[in-house]
Amino acid sequence: MASLREAVSVIDEKLSLADKAAILVEALPYIRRFSGTTVVVKYGGNAIAEGDGGSRDETLESFAQDIVLLHSVGLRPVVVHGGGPQIDSLLTRLGIASEFHEGLRVTTAETLEVVKMVLLGQVNPSIVAQLNRLGSRGIGISGADAQLVRCTPVSDHHGLVGAVSQVNAEVLHRLLDDGFIPVVASIATDESGQVYNVNADHVASAVASALHAEKLVYLTNIEGLRLNVDDPTSLVRSIGAEELRDLLRQGTIVGGMIPKIRSALEAVDGGVRAIHLLDGRATHALLVEIFTDIGIGTMIHA
Ligand SMILES: Nc1ncnc2c1ncn2[C@@H]1O[C@H](COP(=O)(O)OP(=O)(O)OP(=O)(O)O)[C@@H](O)[C@H]1O
Ligand SMILES: [Mg+2]
Repeated sequence: MASLREAVSVIDEKLSLADKAAILVEALPYIRRFSGTTVVVKYGGNAIAEGDGGSRDETLESFAQDIVLLHSVGLRPVVVHGGGPQIDSLLTRLGIASEFHEGLRVTTAETLEVVKMVLLGQVNPSIVAQLNRLGSRGIGISGADAQLVRCTPVSDHHGLVGAVSQVNAEVLHRLLDDGFIPVVASIATDESGQVYNVNADHVASAVASALHAEKLVYLTNIEGLRLNVDDPTSLVRSIGAEELRDLLRQGTIVGGMIPKIRSALEAVDGGVRAIHLLDGRATHALLVEIFTDIGIGTMIHA
């Protein structure tokens, strides 16, 4: 993503007023096309933690500016956030071990307490605060509120990790209709009311399908899907669902990319037409993807 970063600084220094105007004009057809449509943005805890905006607050601010701009030109953005590194950090401070299985955090009752503390007490309010500082009406909500996200246990190995079984889209439609920007923390409840930790990629994908979203964008800490995770030149620019299923079987996709790709495939099945994986550490990656002709990251299609 160095290329995008460099491009942004070159743009700042070199662009004439006419060039800047041309960029706004370039955005016009995209604004017209996407105005009124729903875009679900998964903001990875890794993108927040490692952003290139300088301090963590600057990274969040750049992200919030993008979301507020989308909202201001008539899109209906929904943010779903993760918090992997932030949860790791508190677990370490408390001396609790982290364990992952197939890219998902094995969650004991004790781990769940920490997950809730970090997502609901730290990450969610900091995103909401940035949106509201910019004059918009961000509203924090978790999947447990108003039974927004219902789940069942993923497996016997994972403990209190949920698989999404249902999304109550009406809750989000109402918030969006009233001009709020929902910021969703990825916990959910089963039918008995037990709270579960759900991977935020899966929540984002289920929310995108339930809202019939135009786009689902995953902002993470890598520029997209790589055929070889250690080789930056192996970035996949565009890929169909069938080929992606083959890659999953081959074991090219590991760790946190597993839930991302599995949930992206679920979104394809759920009718979401455009799915993008982008480096959310890069300043304004979201705006570049949605409002310019430049294609960045990985696009996943049916
Ligand atoms: N084939 C692959 N291509 C690209 N990244 C991969 C691949 N296989 C594994 N990864 C890993 O997936 C990671 C991204 O997932 P991860 O869960 O860590 O972040 P996130 O979902 O953005 O954050 P959070 O889980 O906090 O919401 C990358 O940092 C990368 O190391
Ligand atoms: Mg993740």
